[in-house]
Amino acid sequence: IKITIIDRQGEKHEVDAPTDMNMNIMEVVRSYELAPEGTIGICGGMAMCASCQCYVVSNHELPEMSYDEDLMLSEAFNVKENSRLSCQIFVKEELNGLEIELAPEV
Ligand code: FES
Repeated sequence: IKITIIDRQGEKHEVDAPTDMNMNIMEVVRSYELAPEGTIGICGGMAMCASCQCYVVSNHELPEMSYDEDLMLSEAFNVKENSRLSCQIFVKEELNGLEIELAPEV
């Protein structure tokens, strides 16, 4: 599927993300090196660091937040209405065309 990722410099990247690898969006961002190593995915995708926070720009319907994701975002910086942890969003067919923006580095 195609996903648009707006990096922390405001640059847009349209990338291909595979639906058959159980990959999350944080891993997609890392695989295309759209954020420097060590500034995203610090906890390894456990919903425990918020370094992968993103803002969901397109109006895709995403799965509900888990308790852990909700809790982590309640303690994170720069949180907005449309904030999600990108490590908790998995690449699926129905997310084709998803657009997200990376939250500032903290
Ligand atoms: Fe740590 Fe997503 S990588 S919360």
